[in-house]
Amino acid sequence: MYRLGLIGYPIKHSLSPWIHESFLASTNVKGSYSIIEIDPATSFSKSMQLLKERNLNGFNVTVPFKQSIIPFLDEVDQEAKRIGAVNTVVNKNGNWIGYNTDGKGYVRSLMDKFPGLESEKEQSVLMIGAGGAARGIYYALLTEGFTNIDIANRTLSSAQELTEFKPPSANTKIKTLEDAEAMLSDYDVVIQTTSVGMKPYEGTTVISLDKLKPSCIVSDIVYQPIKTRFLTEAESKGALLHFGHTMLLYQAQLAFEIWTNKNIELMELDTALRLQLEG
Ligand code: ATR
Repeated sequence: MYRLGLIGYPIKHSLSPWIHESFLASTNVKGSYSIIEIDPATSFSKSMQLLKERNLNGFNVTVPFKQSIIPFLDEVDQEAKRIGAVNTVVNKNGNWIGYNTDGKGYVRSLMDKFPGLESEKEQSVLMIGAGGAARGIYYALLTEGFTNIDIANRTLSSAQELTEFKPPSANTKIKTLEDAEAMLSDYDVVIQTTSVGMKPYEGTTVISLDKLKPSCIVSDIVYQPIKTRFLTEAESKGALLHFGHTMLLYQAQLAFEIWTNKNIELMELDTALRLQLEG
């Protein structure tokens, strides 16, 4: 019997319970996944004490606690430590061990959708955004072996900070959003990691895609709406699309593996989640 859950705020509408309960059902593992909303205005250390007492087998951590959970962990996986954020905690004999499955989940979803990338890791990648999500994705792309990843962001200093992860063998240029827009035809893969285009602002895009290369892979981590304006414009330019909800599924798949050692087949859930998001 696995007792799992999610901490964060606000999380009442989170899709994680639905995803993990589907995983439990499909693997015939008995368990539950509860929403544990923690008001950021209350004492986090008190909340953590109460959470310890619940003795869950594992839990996910989302906004705004991905960094603040770290001092309460007994161990932090090397990758999560470097990224500076934890989204998955497993309870091993009373010890809390933290992991980050966001970036790795994203890259796994991208590689599963476009297996050809496996042998083309020198392709030219543009990542737009330099927030928490971008940090995990950039780290995971480098770990996967991608060697040419430029970062465009509204605030250049935040993009510059990410290059601390870059090994000498990789190349990263920092770009303004305007430069990225003008040089878009240079890129084979474009990854949109900002919140621009998310409901209720679905009419907006972070940059214009006028200069997009037709065969470009275009990915947007926004999944509400499921087909963002960014993806719609990319499609009209002949791009190959990668949808944001897959990151949600794959990060959950990795978390579930950490908790239960079970591998999940995602194909059917992908369709079910799409339908769920499309209402
Ligand atoms: P998350 O943790 O979800 O990635 P975040 O850390 O708040 O969220 O990061 C948000 C990202 O979206 C940042 O790259 C931010 O750009 P800045 O670093 O300049 O703030 C980007 N972003 C948000 N709103 C934006 C907008 N209207 N135009 C351009 N970029 C925007």
